[in-house]
Amino acid sequence: MIVLVPFTRSEFEEFLQRNIRHFARERVEAGDWTRREALRLSTRAHRSLLPQGLRTPSHQLRALVDARSGLRVGETWYQVRRIGSSKELWVYWIGIREDQRRKGYGLAALRRLEEEARRRSVKRIALHVFGPNLGARALYAKAGFQVLEEQLGKAVRPLPPSLSGRRRPPQERNRPKARRRVRS
Ligand SMILES: CC(C)(COP(=O)(O)OP(=O)(O)OC[C@H]1O[C@@H](n2cnc3c(N)ncnc32)[C@H](O)[C@@H]1OP(=O)(O)O)[C@@H](O)C(=O)NCCC(=O)NCCS
Repeated sequence: MIVLVPFTRSEFEEFLQRNIRHFARERVEAGDWTRREALRLSTRAHRSLLPQGLRTPSHQLRALVDARSGLRVGETWYQVRRIGSSKELWVYWIGIREDQRRKGYGLAALRRLEEEARRRSVKRIALHVFGPNLGARALYAKAGFQVLEEQLGKAVRPLPPSLSGRRRPPQERNRPKARRRVRS
């Protein structure tokens, strides 16, 4: 069984820096941000979600602790928020320490969050996952999560120079060509 233990201030600071780096890396891999801007944008996103740090109202940052051994196996960050007239528990983060993975802790943590949602009369748990994160997606499927909406994307690759210079786009074709200035 998993118990949720509030972060200390120093645990929070360490988690925040790690999470900022992780989110920046995921956004770069997803093609959303460049390497150069990623850390700055990720820091800004985290600051705007957690303006008062650990004390930001409605946000919960918890260590995941194995109740039997007392071992700290991972972390979670979630928020109970209003969606119209109902409430949703949104999971910003769930992570299991690398050396403790594939032992059932991820699944146990999600079950613990589900209990928490039930206790607070929340009707739905939801989260976002990047497409290439197959491990997390397999975990969520096993825990009974279903796709609520899908965001699709396709990389737009530039044409090879041999093709790109040959034709003008249709909207430009009817425009008069710019006259070349000729020196007399
Ligand atoms: C995703 C994560 C939380 C899973 O935690 P975990 O404790 O290893 O998961 P569990 O042991 O409870 O796994 C339960 C089931 O999920 C699936 N699963 C979990 N990790 C998997 C992986 N890497 N590949 C394939 N399936 C996986 C399996 O079906 C597994 O059951 P099985 O071990 O009997 O086959 C963990 O890998 C992690 O912390 N990843 C890095 C952080 C992260 O990406 N978090 C998600 C952010 S959206």
